[in-house]
Amino acid sequence: MKERVLSGMQASGLLHLGNLIGALRNWVHLQDKFDCYFFIADWHALTTGYAITEMIKKSSEDLILNFLASGLDPKRCVIFQQSRVLQHAELHLLLSMITPLGWLERVPTYKEKKFELEDRDLNNYGFLGYPVLMSADILLYRAKYVPVGIDQEPHLEITREIARRFNHLYNTKTLIEPEALLTEFPKVIGVDGRKMSKTYDNALYLSDTPKLIETKIKTMKTDPARQRRTDKGDPNLSPVFELHKIFSSDEEREFVSNGCRSAEIGCIDCKKILIKNVINVLTPIWERREVLKSQGILGDILKEGNDKARITAEETMELVRVDMKLTL
Ligand code: TRP
Repeated sequence: MKERVLSGMQASGLLHLGNLIGALRNWVHLQDKFDCYFFIADWHALTTGYAITEMIKKSSEDLILNFLASGLDPKRCVIFQQSRVLQHAELHLLLSMITPLGWLERVPTYKEKKFELEDRDLNNYGFLGYPVLMSADILLYRAKYVPVGIDQEPHLEITREIARRFNHLYNTKTLIEPEALLTEFPKVIGVDGRKMSKTYDNALYLSDTPKLIETKIKTMKTDPARQRRTDKGDPNLSPVFELHKIFSSDEEREFVSNGCRSAEIGCIDCKKILIKNVINVLTPIWERREVLKSQGILGDILKEGNDKARITAEETMELVRVDMKLTL
């Protein structure tokens, strides 16, 4: 029996290269080693995006397209949509009964996100309960491992605490304490030199056109000391070089690094190599996205995944209802 892995992505923006390198590619590698469940967290997107649901729909469509185009295979893993598996709502409700408010108020992402999104009104019940919903997502499948970034570790910690509290209160072993599956990935830098993120408006999206990728990279800042073509530069002061570290070969990196330091090449020459490599990574994804769109099979694939997820989820809920004496 393979061990179970579960992870989700919040449907609150388009998927970018940082998500591909940091998460999705890893999921693709996990799908044969583990019994994998991957899902679109559209209810989570509502916790901050309840007033912009058109965006959530667009993002959900982008997610399923990119999941499949990047190599998740519905024959080798279960791909589903959170809001179509109602057991998530039921377990969220039951866990909300046993989760102390103090635990939720203490989660660092609660204050951070509220601050980051201060233009939105987040004084809502659902936003505070974000980690309870995430706990329900995970515990519902009794997953052993959850591949997520280090930023999600506080949510996994509270998931374990909730599982422990449930098992203790109802004297059961039903819920399984999950572990994060942290894998070291190079941090992908955005076009402004900060971490690539939709919030910073600095991302290269999987749904961008080749032309747009080219424009975004061509207008990137480089070493500010390199004003003229003849000025020598330091690649370590250029966000372009950070992206070369991820997308270019050793030889290319050496070539642009030496060329920059000696002013033998210009910034445009350096960027052209990066553009070529980024486009090479994205081209197969773009091609598969087009095929998937023209086939019109996304709905069927999701439906099949939702049905499979529901069966596993219901198995856990049957145990949970018995544990809580909700069956007569
Ligand atoms: N909170 C996660 C994120 O922002 C998304 C998510 C929701 C998730 N439910 C989950 C991830 C369950 C792993 C497991 O990326």
